[in-house]
Amino acid sequence: MHISRRDSLVLLAGMGVSACGGAGGATQATPTPTASVPPTPTPTPVATPPAAAPAEPVGLNTLATARGLRVGSCFAWGAPGADRGSFANPSYAALLKRDCGILVGENEMKWQAIRPSATQFDFTRFDAMMDWATANNLPVRGHNLLWHQPKWMPAWEENHDFGSSPSREAERLLVEHVNTVCRRYGARIPSYDVVNEAVTPADGTLYQTALSRALGGPEATLDLAFHTARAAAPGAQLVYNDYMSWEPGNANHRAGVLRLLEGFKRRGVPVDALGVQSHLVTQGMDARTGIAAIEGEWRRFLDAVTAMGYKLVITELDVRDNNLPADIAPRDTAVADFTRGYLDVMFAYPALRDVLLWGMSDRYSWIEGFEPRKDGAKRRPCPYDADFAPKPMRAAISAAITAAPVRS
Ligand code: G3I
Repeated sequence: MHISRRDSLVLLAGMGVSACGGAGGATQATPTPTASVPPTPTPTPVATPPAAAPAEPVGLNTLATARGLRVGSCFAWGAPGADRGSFANPSYAALLKRDCGILVGENEMKWQAIRPSATQFDFTRFDAMMDWATANNLPVRGHNLLWHQPKWMPAWEENHDFGSSPSREAERLLVEHVNTVCRRYGARIPSYDVVNEAVTPADGTLYQTALSRALGGPEATLDLAFHTARAAAPGAQLVYNDYMSWEPGNANHRAGVLRLLEGFKRRGVPVDALGVQSHLVTQGMDARTGIAAIEGEWRRFLDAVTAMGYKLVITELDVRDNNLPADIAPRDTAVADFTRGYLDVMFAYPALRDVLLWGMSDRYSWIEGFEPRKDGAKRRPCPYDADFAPKPMRAAISAAITAAPVRS
């Protein structure tokens, strides 16, 4: 028979004693004195011990591992002492070690970072990041082997002379790039964003670059990137990564990504997973109402992706606090509620295992530079604030993980 806490309190009250929980300073129960027995002297109050320092929160990845999930974050290169989201920043490194079981370089493996010219590679910064990650037993996602947009390729690529046999020169450039990166890091990189953001959000068509025009078109280019990556990194998860999302206005983007994934399947291209970047945008103060309006379409999209056999990876989670007041407490609560609602939907898919944040701290988020709030208030898109203190968003992630169905 279960005696509820309330019943036990009633029972105890009837016995002339009061009961209370709580750590430290708990009031001892004082029995009611009777006439025949001399009153018990009032005990000397016990000094209340000093409040214990707040306990270190249980790491997000520790919670995740118990559910068959894994949590990670992006990180950056930085000189010692630099105020950056880097491994060399002790405050940021502490968050990575506390909460992460996998990392991803924010910028340092991109063509623009490692390919100063068609004949050169420069791995100096990414090597340093990989060395730190390996020393801390952290695998690293490879982001990315091809960001298929002119804007995000090195300037020299768009002006490259592909010569008299352009498709052969384009193939050589791409194959050399993928092989050089994959062979350099081997199993230390268990998952690659082989191709990033190849679909035009407005109409779902594929971007073109000088490389893809020379090589014979975007499909041929993307397919070659994946086939080359499979050969060069046979044990790695190969991911197509994009920011199609659940907010209104993303229907064409989602449709274009589905067509691309269907094409990969039809052509036998080795793509293992869809990278769902998850750069979320809040839909107002009432997260539940906002989510109710967009959840159905999103589930249909995820159902279509997983029905094709693709796994899911949350690759770049952060939350743009739009349509919310500047006041921090209500804004943080709304962001946390929206995050929780999103993760509850995503964790319902057994195809999802890895959840990576696009930054642990508001201090270094790309969003502040990309789309500052119109009211001038600083963005608050990450689980920790600019002083590295945990926010309600972190608690929401923790709760979502704890409630997630266990995956094998
Ligand atoms: O490192 C150079 C520095 O030497 C130079 O002085 C400075 C001058 O502008 O630029 C620095 O490079 C910047 C780089 O971030 C490192 O800070 C680039 O200009 C800037 O464009 C780059 O922005 C990154 C952006 O991708 C473009 O690569 C953001 O930090 C990064 O958060 C963002 O991440 C992308 C993912 O890769 C793909 N998904 C979307 C996501 C958000 O846009």
